[in-house]
Amino acid sequence: MPIPIIMDCDPGHDDAIALVLAYAAPELELLAVTTSAGNQTIDKTTRNARTILSFLGADIPVARGASRPLFRELIIAPQVHGESGLDGPTLPDPTLPESTLSAVELTAKTIKESPQPVTLVPTGALTNVAALLLSHPELKANIGRISLMGGAAVGGNWTPAAEFNILVDPEAAHIVFNAGIPVTMCGLDVTHKALVTRADTERFRAHGGRVSTMVAELMDFFVRFHEENFELGGSPLHDPCAVAWLIAPEIFSSRRAHVDVECRGALTVGATVVDFEGRNGAVKNVDVVLDLDRNRFIDLLDDALLRLDSQGGAS
Ligand code: RIB
Ligand code: CA
Repeated sequence: MPIPIIMDCDPGHDDAIALVLAYAAPELELLAVTTSAGNQTIDKTTRNARTILSFLGADIPVARGASRPLFRELIIAPQVHGESGLDGPTLPDPTLPESTLSAVELTAKTIKESPQPVTLVPTGALTNVAALLLSHPELKANIGRISLMGGAAVGGNWTPAAEFNILVDPEAAHIVFNAGIPVTMCGLDVTHKALVTRADTERFRAHGGRVSTMVAELMDFFVRFHEENFELGGSPLHDPCAVAWLIAPEIFSSRRAHVDVECRGALTVGATVVDFEGRNGAVKNVDVVLDLDRNRFIDLLDDALLRLDSQGGAS
């Protein structure tokens, strides 16, 4: 039985590739997509989610989420993803309509209608997930797991202490990590090892199919920022890790921990405080992902591209 999932994302190049991977994977059933503000404004991330799903020929509801964090002003990342949030490839205008429901309404409806527990896969700020948990606490029992991209056991990327998704809405992240739901945290510890090289991009492009070519062109733009600003030896494919862990957990390694979020520190706000010891009886409900087999991760993505291009699923 495929795992039913709902993706909450802020496309964004790596979110877009995570959507491609989720849509292609026979191990998953992508029931719905909701959008958050982060990489770009909610208008742009919502259009981008519709654009990617339209390109894939996916008939999946897309609902707009919160336009800003619970308590803070929105920060966006045009220097990473461009003015559109998906700069690089020239993509057809979206044909998939925007749902008339909000992200919380669509997520609640989808969870209620699912015969089995749904896995949430947030790859942006956690505002929508927090809002769902606050407004529909009764649905917690129908959420099997939250597999998210965010945080880090050590360090940050937007500040020395904080990773971008958590920093955008620390209060929302605090609510999510403390909801008592099993969480898989794909933070920078693993995503900075989930590196895509230019050789990998040329491997995708060489397939020649529409989806493979589109992903290669997304990577062409995404690589630019990371080569100019980091010396990682490649571009970290952050968001696809949260999807790949559901498809093939065996290519990852993790440790169980209690995680909470700093919401007040002048220098440390947005830091995920990872307690592998479970001090003072803290519940260790989070699988903190720390490493992966990079080659198998790239192969997983490559298989997804070949599958979609062979199906001719791209519209
Ligand atoms: O820090 C990386 C995360 O921030 C990724 O999800 C990326 O898409 C941005 O949202
Ligand atoms: Ca993202």
